[in-house]
Amino acid sequence: MNTDFSARLVRWQKQHGRHGLPWQVREPYAVWLSEIMLQQTQVATVLEYYPRFLAAFPNVAALAKADQDEVLALWAGLGYYSRARNLHAAAKQVMRDFGGRFPDTRQDLETLKGVGRSTAAAIAAFAFGRREAILDGNVKRVLCRVFAQDGAIGDKKFETALWDLAESLLPATEEMTPYTQGLMDLGALVCKRSKPHCDACPMAEICLAKQQGRIAELPRKKTAVAVKELALYWLVLRDKQGRVLLEKRPAGGIWGGLYCVPCFERLDDLYERAAAFGVASEDLAEGDLVSHRLTHRLLQITPLQANGVAAATAHGSLWANAAEYGLPKPLAKYLRRG
Ligand code: ADE
Repeated sequence: MNTDFSARLVRWQKQHGRHGLPWQVREPYAVWLSEIMLQQTQVATVLEYYPRFLAAFPNVAALAKADQDEVLALWAGLGYYSRARNLHAAAKQVMRDFGGRFPDTRQDLETLKGVGRSTAAAIAAFAFGRREAILDGNVKRVLCRVFAQDGAIGDKKFETALWDLAESLLPATEEMTPYTQGLMDLGALVCKRSKPHCDACPMAEICLAKQQGRIAELPRKKTAVAVKELALYWLVLRDKQGRVLLEKRPAGGIWGGLYCVPCFERLDDLYERAAAFGVASEDLAEGDLVSHRLTHRLLQITPLQANGVAAATAHGSLWANAAEYGLPKPLAKYLRRG
């Protein structure tokens, strides 16, 4: 099945895919420039800008030497100008870090500004014939449909699984160019998001989403989780030695089992606990609000603090040097700030 996918794709690309695009060359500088332009811009638009840019800066040394203003001027109208700034910075990186020779592995390409894993893989495959998998939005859609992958795009574990799947499908080195171009072409021309051309698709016979009638449903979008805001109050008491009052959180709830300062949903409960340490509500100073996002909740935490508190203990709490305990991240960060 897996070899079937790449064989079908390569055969289809050679016959029906896009050929004769000006960046379908092996010169890494030219390939890199095109991949950056094509990241967020349609082929038709890139066809207008690419030749002008290449004429002005025919190689990486010329681009590295250019003024940023010149580079931006040639980019004007393409949008996403951080791409142009990164491109210029990356050209300087190639001169400085790689002696002016374009890096030829996916890993080294990924060190260049503006080049993520998929773009690095595309350059490595097109310019150097490397067996590296691309996985941009179009490719994710193709794989989710052909292999009926129904995780949510954007979910970290699912994305890792898609990368593994993409790598398992790679053909032999000799076919890397038509294969990689084929993935891009299939996603752009046939396996479109809405109204895909399944009748013209080389995967029609093996596409699981098609067999299961789930083309419209896949890929699944990241489900927006309803985020509820929860107001919390931290009682941050320090003794004369600067130790902080901690207690172990009950298992099961937020930060279950971790040490934390006493934490309350109701301010009155906090005042009551503070009073047990001889601290009146007027003696508590309000710290900066701490916002912390959990999967389904946005915690809005108001710290109330007092220093130089007499070190009596109560309610199973202890005075501790905070750095020695595994505390919830937002608390550790808050306490580090002082
Ligand atoms: N999109 C990203 N890379 C591309 C390429 N090499 N050809 C066509 N479209 C693309």
